[in-house]
Amino acid sequence: MAELGELSEKLSLIRQEISEELTKLNSSKEVYEYRKTIMDSKTGKIGSLMREMGKVPKELKAEYGKQVNEIKTWATECFDELDTKMKEEELKARYESEKIDVTLPSNKIRRGYLHPATQVRNQIVDIFASLGFSIYEGNEIETDYYNFTALNIPKDHPARDMQDTFYLSPEFLLRTQTSSGQIHVMESQQPPIKIISPGKVFRSDDDATHSPMFSQMEGLVVDKGITLCDLQGMLDVFVKKIFGDDTKTRLRPSYFPFTEPSVEVDVSCFQCKGCGCKLCKGTGWIEVLGAGVVNKKVLEGCGIDSDVYSGLAFGIGIERIAMLKYGINNIKLLFESDLRVLDQIDD
Ligand code: PHE
Repeated sequence: MAELGELSEKLSLIRQEISEELTKLNSSKEVYEYRKTIMDSKTGKIGSLMREMGKVPKELKAEYGKQVNEIKTWATECFDELDTKMKEEELKARYESEKIDVTLPSNKIRRGYLHPATQVRNQIVDIFASLGFSIYEGNEIETDYYNFTALNIPKDHPARDMQDTFYLSPEFLLRTQTSSGQIHVMESQQPPIKIISPGKVFRSDDDATHSPMFSQMEGLVVDKGITLCDLQGMLDVFVKKIFGDDTKTRLRPSYFPFTEPSVEVDVSCFQCKGCGCKLCKGTGWIEVLGAGVVNKKVLEGCGIDSDVYSGLAFGIGIERIAMLKYGINNIKLLFESDLRVLDQIDD
């Protein structure tokens, strides 16, 4: 039994060592590492004891095995218990460190909003949509034919000088007006026609009130018995909704090759209510758009019988309306995306 006496002594030393060591461990990782040095079946202080069974005399084997198993069970329990405790503490610490107070007031989020020119465009679209118009999206690159010729502006016609054009080739150009869309619509559709066509247009023009790129909204109505009165009635609704209920409209004779008669539409100055101010240059009226009765030549060119049908068309400068509405005196302010400026223009 000498071996067993030795073994018992060895085991109680190991027990003592483990008990002491366990008090020094600080994490589940350390428990894991230390556990390996004790329990590993090849290198562990306890784990490797069974390998020595071969050297133990036969009659002592059972007792040897029993003692080794005892300490093994004890150590396993110690490790498991400490491991569970460590993991619980670690989880608690993690929860503590990741804790968020959902009742704290949050940082203020700056909400974006649509650009003032886009707001105006959407507003105009809504107004005409409520009057039964549908939307046609035209092409920004057009042929000379659609932008000019089909609109009764043949080559060498002086009206071509009214709009300084960016030509891409002798045939192709950046459209100078959304009126080019009128032709596409009338070529592909018989009356009744009732569309608006918002979009970008381009002119070689650059000063405080003109930009090489700006937006227009074309309107076109073709049906039986359409007259200038329909135009005035419709535009009346439009300007009242945009500038206020007491806004009046006035038609002045004008000239566009594709409308006959043609008019410029003025609204009573919404700033001075017609008394005369800086905005309306003392006249009491502000010009807002061009319009007219569609020229019979244009209708016929698109295959629409001008003895049966008549039409009206108008073209609104979207930035111009936005400038008037928000009191902006330079169109560039609308394109520079300077938030300090745009923030001041809020509806
Ligand atoms: N296209 C014209 C312009 O850009 C406006 C307009 C449209 C006039 C429709 C009459 C009818 O100046």
